[in-house]
Parts: sequence; structure tokens; C-alpha cells
Amino acid sequence: MSALTVTMDDGIAVIVFDAPGESVNIISRAVKNEFIALFQQLESDASIRAAVLMSGKPDSFVAGADIEEFLEWKTAAQAESASREGHALLDRLETLRTPVVAAINGACLGGGLETSLACAWRIATDHAKTVLGVPEVQIGLFPGAGGTQRLPRTVGLRVALDMILTGKNVRARKALQTGLVHEVVHPAILREVAVQRARELAAGTRKRNARSRPGGMRTVLLDDNPVGRSVVLRKAREQALKKTRGNYPAVLAAIDAVSASFHGRDHGFREEARLFGEMAMTPQCRELIFLFFATTALKKEAIGGVAPAPVERLGILGAGFMGSGIAAVAAQAGTMVRLKDADLVRVGKGLAAVRDLLQERLTRRHITRQEFADQRLLVGGTVDYAGFGGVDLVIEAVFEDLAVKHAVVREVEAVVPEWAVVASNTSTIPIARIAEASRRPERVLGMHFFSPVHRMPLLEVIPTPVTRPEVTAGAVAFGRSLGKTVIVVNDAPGFYVNRILAPYLNEAGALLDAGAAIDAVDDAMERFGFPVGPFTLLDEVGLDIAARSGAILHEAFGERMAPSQAMRAIVGAGRSGRKGKSGFYLYDENGKKGAVDSSVYALLPNATRSPFPVEEIQQRCALALANEAARTLEEGIVRSSRDGDIGAVFGIGFPPFRGGPFRWMDAMGVAKVVEALEELSARYAPRFTPSDLLVSMARREERFYPAEGKPV
Ligand code: NAI
Repeated sequence: MSALTVTMDDGIAVIVFDAPGESVNIISRAVKNEFIALFQQLESDASIRAAVLMSGKPDSFVAGADIEEFLEWKTAAQAESASREGHALLDRLETLRTPVVAAINGACLGGGLETSLACAWRIATDHAKTVLGVPEVQIGLFPGAGGTQRLPRTVGLRVALDMILTGKNVRARKALQTGLVHEVVHPAILREVAVQRARELAAGTRKRNARSRPGGMRTVLLDDNPVGRSVVLRKAREQALKKTRGNYPAVLAAIDAVSASFHGRDHGFREEARLFGEMAMTPQCRELIFLFFATTALKKEAIGGVAPAPVERLGILGAGFMGSGIAAVAAQAGTMVRLKDADLVRVGKGLAAVRDLLQERLTRRHITRQEFADQRLLVGGTVDYAGFGGVDLVIEAVFEDLAVKHAVVREVEAVVPEWAVVASNTSTIPIARIAEASRRPERVLGMHFFSPVHRMPLLEVIPTPVTRPEVTAGAVAFGRSLGKTVIVVNDAPGFYVNRILAPYLNEAGALLDAGAAIDAVDDAMERFGFPVGPFTLLDEVGLDIAARSGAILHEAFGERMAPSQAMRAIVGAGRSGRKGKSGFYLYDENGKKGAVDSSVYALLPNATRSPFPVEEIQQRCALALANEAARTLEEGIVRSSRDGDIGAVFGIGFPPFRGGPFRWMDAMGVAKVVEALEELSARYAPRFTPSDLLVSMARREERFYPAEGKPV
């Protein structure tokens, strides 16, 4: 079955791209061949005067290239030649006798946007799903089918760099303002307007690919002038280096490719292909592509082999920080929410927090005024379980105290329907303990959201041994409907994410004990690729909360999870982190982080600081985390290394370009990891003793993932 079908409309060929059996359109090799044949037809059939390219999918124009084909490239030359093939195809489209109008409804991404840039006219619909972008940096690449060349020409250097370096999507209205598209129309008239424009282009009453980006002084100075451009490019390089700390080479290569676009057409395209080939072979690209496949596979995975009933009404207990955050994301997904707290003042505060979160989305224009009003109306508050008689799911986010959790489980089970599921958002209490208060523990499980709920993408779903499979499946499906990346983990102290985080944070503390400086440790881990260093993270989380969770893990796992002396001393001195404006760093009255608070050092047993090699800091912290991750896999806390990698990247910001702790260990070689851990264990403490799994894998020369082919 072909993906492209052509119907004639009085001399205009209307091409509909509708990949059979797929929810989105992807440009695979087979589709490229169809395009080649089609171009032949457009060129040779004199009865065709112009063409329109549109999609048959309701919300996807073109999602991009087929990333599975990228796995076939074994050398830079192969990837470079794939890029050159893309160039040839789109050059052909650009110079066809018959002008082609891109009629864009739905997501137009990557190779899809590059294709439309080669068209003679671009019309987008104002449908909410219509977004345009080049997300290739997210997989360690950049647009390699002419995107770095045509985009600056179309929208100017600054907008092009912004799109290419961030990979972010642009909505139709913004696309119109920047000249990315020529027109925006209602979806109902897209085809008609596109056919009309095709006629005008054929008749010559409209100029092909007419420039439509705005002029103005800044454009003249910074986009259209070589001196201005060199300033913009230099600034972009500086910022990119600072932001990526050199860990994402594709960002710099993209700037070079864009820069080359201003030095002759052939040179520019040649450079794009060459650099694309080079980037396709980087370890960063390999790991980011792994993460792409891993998350895609995770999202599609059926859990428990049952189709869960949807959650239409949600009850939330505790309208505090987490409860209100969960309420806001649930309302965004269209779920009706009842928010309960102990008194009206707290309910009021919770509802105000929900409103603020939704308001932020309105201010950023992610939702319309109408959607804002609708979503707010979905959330109601109560102090007495009113409205809980019809809920499908309850998530409790009351104080972290077993007695309180038991009390609310008993209370809520007395009012909810028989089928309702009770989930706990606890971060430290075993779910089985909470379920002890339940009359039907088979309908109880954990749903561990991370803070802040609206920003953190991960959700841990934690069934107990008696939780029924359809209950787990329902929680996973509900989490996915909120846009979360969901991993199912077993019920043990710290679950997965907090369990692997603890030794990492402890090791940072141990480095302080040994005389390392706070900012030296943070800087080393940021260079390793974490978004913030461990001490900044501790300040954010709250030192009291981290210490409480650390104490529970210490109790559960013994000496290897012992908190550092530094951490004990600092928490003992009453420091709570950013919320109390007294942590490892100084904070101004608005909570903005400043320099290290050097008075912290006076609290430590060892008051003098000495320099530490960056690599030692990185190895100690990251290996402590990875070793614990291996233990969780061995104990069946995570179901697979894939889930463990996703959990670490999305839960705590483990560097995505390293793929996750398991991928990182594979890249180093498990035997090397064991060797390094043994060395650390001999030098410092038995806490570094390699886990049994790692030792046996090293002995058998095993890996967590296959060395070749599709990783998951
Ligand atoms: P919070 O203190 O902001 O909110 C707790 C709310 O529960 C308060 O509004 C309180 O009035 C209410 N509450 C207490 N007893 C109640 C009862 N019997 N009935 C109804 N409401 C009651 O606490 P936060 O930070 O929202 O934490 C809630 C839960 O989420 C805890 O179990 C915590 O461990 C967990 N959690 C917290 C995270 C965080 O970073 N703050 C992250 C992940 C989980």
C-alpha cells in the first residue's frame, strides 16, 4: 500500500500523505522512493500545473525521518551520504516545474519541516495540534536535509538558531509572525486555500517562496548583515558552550552548519552533510537515540495484559504542595478532581495553588482563556469527602506520617465506590504498610509523583504483592494520560529513584567530609552532565526532607547508606535549604541563589578545604549511584535496565547523553566499573563494594544491552 495518493483538481495535483496503519506520517526509505516517483510524474505530466502536499492524518503532517534507519549507519560517510540524498530529493522538490504548496495541519517536524521549506508556499492551520519544529538536537543531531540552510534563509539567523538549537516547537501564529509559513487558516478551508495558491503560483501571480519574515532595524542589522551575523553566531557559540559544558557537540556543529549557509549554497549544504555524518557517530547521538527508543517502547507497553477502566473522577487527599500539583495536571488532562483537606483555609490555599499553575499556562499561551476557565471548573474542594462517592481513583498526599495515612485510608474507603483505587504519593513509607489499614489492599498501590509535579516528567507506580494487575494497569494508564513517563517499580524503601539518589547525595556529603568545596562538587557533577549539582539539588529538595528520607534508607540498608557527617551537622544546625533561605548556598529575599554560604564550612568537622580532582568527584558520586542502580535491578525493584535508565534520566536528571546509569556502565564496560568500584572500596570505604550482579556480569563479560542493533 502506498503512503502517497494523488487526486486531480482541475490541473492541480493534490497529494495526500497518509502512511497506512500508522498514527503519524514518517519519511521512511519507502516513502522517499514514492516521492521520487511522484516528482517524476509532476515533472513529465503536462496536464499538472501545480501541486498541494497535505496529510491524511488528523493531527500529524509529518513527524520526521525514520529514526530506525539511522541505526544502519556504521560510518560517518554513510550518514553523510544519507544527508546528501535528502538534499538531492528536496532540491528536486524546490526546483520542480510545478510549484508545490505545503498545506500543514498537525505536527510538522524535522524532515517534515525541511520538506515544507523546499515547497513554494506554506500554509498552516490554526489547529491546536499544528506545531512546527526541528527537534533533531534532542537525539544528538541537527536537521540534515537542508534545514540548517533553508531555515536561516526563511526566518532569519536568530529565529533559525533558536529553533535548531532548542528543538522547540513553534505554533502556527508564531510561525506566521516569523515568516516560517506564509499564511494561517482554519483547518476547514486548508485544502481550498492551498489549491487556490497553487493555481496562483502556476499562473505566476504569486512569487514562489516569497520572503515573508518581518523587516525592521534588528533584522537588517543582525540577520541580513554579515557583521551582525558574526556577532550573533559568536554569542550563540559562547552560550551553547556555557550551557552544554561541551557535552552536546551537535549544538556546536549545528551552529557551524548554519554559519556555513552564509558562505555559498554548495559549501553550506556540503558542510551540513559532513557535520551531520560526524555527529551521527558520536556516543551522545547513540545514547540519545537509545533514550528515544526506550521511552517510545515504554509508552507503548501494555501493563498486566488488561485494558484498564479510565479515571473520570479523581479524589485527592491533602491540598498541600503535592496534592495541588497533582490536581492541576489532572485538570489539564480533563479529569474532574475533588480536593480534600482538613480545613477550609487549606482547601482554599490548595485551590489557589491550582489556579496559579493553570494561570501560568494561560500566561504562556499554552491554553486558551476558555480552556483555563474549563480546567479551573474541573477542580472542586471539600473538607468532608463530599463528592467522593463517585470517584474512580483517590491519591493521598497528606503528611508523611503512617498514622495519618492509615486514618485517611480508612475514612476514604468508607465513602468511595467499591471499584475505586486508593493510591499513595508517599515518598518513603512502604506501600504495603499503608495498605495494612485497607479493607481491600488489592486495590491499593503507590503513585509517586516528583516535585514540582507539573514539571517533573516521571511517575513511579508501585504495586504491592497483592495489588491486582488491572489496578496497576489503571494507574499506569492514568499517569500516561497526564503526560507522565511511567515506570512500574517494586515496593521497597526509596522505591527506585530515591534509592539510587541517596548514595549519590551521600557521596557528595562524604566529599565535604574529606575537605572538598561545595561549589567544586556541584561544578564537577554539572560538568558530568547533571542539570544541577548535588548540593544545589539538596537545597531545592529541602535538607530536612532529604535527611528524613536518608535516615529511612540508612535504617533499611545499613552502613553503605549512612549519611555523611557534614549532612548531619548541617541539618542539626537547623538549615533547611532554599525554602528557609539557609542551605549550602546564599539566597536573596526572592529566593534567588547566590554564592556558596561559606559559614557552612565552620559547621563541618573538617573546616579546611582542599582541591579535589574533578574526575575523582565524578567517579565517586556517579559510581555510587550506578552501583545502587545495579542492586535495584538485581532485587527486581526495577523491571529492566531500560526502566532504570529512564527513571534516572527523567527522575533525577542523570545526563541524558549518557543514556542512564546502565547505559553508562555498558559504555565503560562492566568489568571496568567493577575494577573502579573495588579500587574505591579499598581506598575509602566498603560502601563502594560492587554489587553481586556487577561482579557476576563482569566475570561473564556481559552487558545490560545488546552491543549491536536496536537497543530496546
Ligand atoms: P504538604 O505539607 O504540603 O501537604 C500535606 C497536606 O495534607 C496539608 O495541606 C495538610 O493539611 C493535609 N492533610 C494532613 N492531614 C490530612 C487529613 N487527615 N485529611 C486531609 N488532608 C490532610 O506536604 P507535601 O509536600 O505535599 O507532601 C505530601 C505527600 O507527598 C507526603 O507523603 C510526601 O512524602 C509526598 N511527596 C512529597 C514530595 C515533595 O517533594 N514535597 C515529593 C514526592 C512525594
